[in-house]
Amino acid sequence: MQATSQTAILEEVQLTAKLIFDLISPELMLVEEEFERQARSNIQVIAYIGDHLRRSGGKRVRPALTILSNYAVGGDGANYSSIRMATVMEFLHTATLVHDDVIDKADTRRNRPSINSEFGNQTAVLMGDWLYMSAFETSHAERSLPILDILTAVTRRMTEGELLQLTLLGRTDISEEQYFEVIARKTAYLFSACCEIGALLGGADARTQNLLRDYGMNLGIAFQLVDDLLDFTGNEEALGKPAGADLLEGKISLPLIFLLQREPQRRADVQRVIAEGNYQAVSRGSLLNSLESSGALGLAQARAIEYAAAAGKALDGLQDSPYAQALSAIPAYIIERDR
Ligand code: IPE
Ligand code: IPE
Ligand code: MG
Ligand code: MG
Repeated sequence: MQATSQTAILEEVQLTAKLIFDLISPELMLVEEEFERQARSNIQVIAYIGDHLRRSGGKRVRPALTILSNYAVGGDGANYSSIRMATVMEFLHTATLVHDDVIDKADTRRNRPSINSEFGNQTAVLMGDWLYMSAFETSHAERSLPILDILTAVTRRMTEGELLQLTLLGRTDISEEQYFEVIARKTAYLFSACCEIGALLGGADARTQNLLRDYGMNLGIAFQLVDDLLDFTGNEEALGKPAGADLLEGKISLPLIFLLQREPQRRADVQRVIAEGNYQAVSRGSLLNSLESSGALGLAQARAIEYAAAAGKALDGLQDSPYAQALSAIPAYIIERDR
């Protein structure tokens, strides 16, 4: 892609992201304050790491989805219930990241040392547990069984996704179906839960709740597809986390599944990178070239765009409002993002 058109796209993405997040910036500030409150603890090490996690930022996509969904169905996204539950969703996400970095042996997250690399695996596992349980404890204040049902189901599914992924590590024969099963569980259900809970708190009827749940599911799949593409095409500074790391960990994501379907003779190279745990014999550049020239990268991108489009389509039944428009803009933001 030419540098100028790439710059133009990036500017457009930044503009889209700004429009989406500016619309609810007061609410997102309340989420930061609530995060700070929920991360308080008399145990010094918990308070310290909680603060470290909050300050490290993140895109805050999940609380944004909860708040926008609440507003989009006619609710008040700024009321305390909405802010509290949006924060619970970010807490759950943070817990998965802290555990995920232990599992993936990742040393950076959000341009900082990951919790496991700074404080060790033991501390990271326990801190992740603490975040999960605090999120649940906070959510009990809603006194809502439907919300608890969604939260317990999504937490179980995320764990299933990570476990399923572990059993598939290093397997170059992973199927498309298995790949989608993993990403639906580890990522998409949480997106779906954020939207559904927002809708529920906003008083949506069953039809509207379902529609937002579908939107979140498709969006979440597109989100993980793009995350996996960025692992090949992205740069570490923008991502704030290691790039090229998935294959080193033995994770075969969709672009590689497509490459191996089209060029089975590359299997030995892929296996070699996994076995050696580095790109010395087979460079990242040469893999990226093959992914591009074989069309595998383009195909995976096309799948991400399909899911993003399906998310957009799911919103058709939603009444028009600035919040519904922001929700409609999120799929494009997710596809074009560089972090
Ligand atoms: C990272 O999520 C984990 C995935 C599901 C790919 P984000 O990309 O939303 O991470 P932060 O919160 O912005 O750091
Ligand atoms: C998403 O998978 C992990 C979670 C759902 C926690 P990844 O392992 O690809 O996420 P990153 O790339 O480390 O953020
Ligand atoms: Mg990871
Ligand atoms: Mg990733």
